[in-house]
Amino acid sequence: MKIILGITGSAAAYKGAELTRMLVHAGASVHPVMTRAGAELLGPKLMHALTGNRPVTDLFDDPSPYAHIELIEDASAVVVAPATANTIAKAAAGIADDALSTVIAAASRVPVVFAPAMNVRMYEHTANARNMASLEALGYVVVHAEAGSLACGDEGRGRLAPVEYVFEEVMRVVWPAKDLARRKVLVTGGGTREPLDPVRYLGNRSSGKMGYDLARAAARRGAFVNLVTAAENDVYLPSTVTVTRVNTAEEMREAALELAPEYEAIIMSAAVADFRPADYSADKVKKGDMPAEVKLVPNQDILAEIGSAKGDKVLVGFAAETGNDIEGEARRKMAAKHLDVIVANRVGGEPGFGTDTIDALVIGSDGRVNSVGVVSKSELAELVMDEIAVILNK
Ligand code: CTP
Repeated sequence: MKIILGITGSAAAYKGAELTRMLVHAGASVHPVMTRAGAELLGPKLMHALTGNRPVTDLFDDPSPYAHIELIEDASAVVVAPATANTIAKAAAGIADDALSTVIAAASRVPVVFAPAMNVRMYEHTANARNMASLEALGYVVVHAEAGSLACGDEGRGRLAPVEYVFEEVMRVVWPAKDLARRKVLVTGGGTREPLDPVRYLGNRSSGKMGYDLARAAARRGAFVNLVTAAENDVYLPSTVTVTRVNTAEEMREAALELAPEYEAIIMSAAVADFRPADYSADKVKKGDMPAEVKLVPNQDILAEIGSAKGDKVLVGFAAETGNDIEGEARRKMAAKHLDVIVANRVGGEPGFGTDTIDALVIGSDGRVNSVGVVSKSELAELVMDEIAVILNK
């Protein structure tokens, strides 16, 4: 994966170094191209040290008259982060008057991602808004700036999107397997919370991380994703993931059943509470008034409900198990809920809930067991996507 990273003259230039680290860590060969102002703000020597590649600041420094074409030829993407109003304007107009704008102008066959960063007055200027819209109309990806306090002391929109977010967009754009391109994937995640009163709830230990990793993995492969989640997570998601926030099992059921008809694959990684308190008190219950026993009523099984009218959807279930016959239990649930794929994960020991790793086995549509063992949740998410892609692309 070869990424051309454009650094322009914004105060957020230093964040380009952080993005470089993340890309290098993900296995990318990063080739910096810096505008004159970008090189003033972020030292080319630092970028050289971080990437192992000498930053291009002037195309005439290269003995080849075709340096811009040679640079772009085998690139997976051009990423301009931070992108100033000036570079955005030039790219929108197709102007090629320095090394970076010439590389962008030559990127007709390579995806280009812009992450703007500038003062709020410049960001909001009609000319800049028009130019950013032009970039999107040209098929470029714009990772919009966020609102907050700016380097100059002003408040407002113009701050570079979080670097992790820019990284996720780049990953989505360059991910080699596009085997879920334009597919619609619904993912549920997190542990539902069943309230007793406005303060107390019955919950479980699910962190929701698996759901976020599944959503990211599907998006990287080109899918449009809706993540119905009962857990907040600070993992950044690409722009093709819509997040639907829910709290209770009933809210999750309503959201999932409403969305399900539109989706081709549904992955239920949520830890849905099997029971909820029979009574909810709108006022906080005083400790003296708390009953010794709380009556519970069962929640409906969302996955079983969707499975009963499955059609040609791909259904993936999860089964958190503690016993000795994990595979047997998983097969039982797979048959009972009409699933194509089930991920059975061992809980109760290490790794368990809330960790980055998971001890899992995956049973695929052909009945084959893949004893995955302890892997990261993002690796497991890729395996699940492999299974879904095989079924959808049959
Ligand atoms: N699930 C669901 N709705 C529920 C409960 C569970 O959709 N009310 C889904 C989970 O998201 C998961 C799968 O069903 O994908 C398995 O859930 P689990 O609680 O492990 O299985 P159960 O069928 O409830 O069986 P048991 O409690 O006997 O283990």
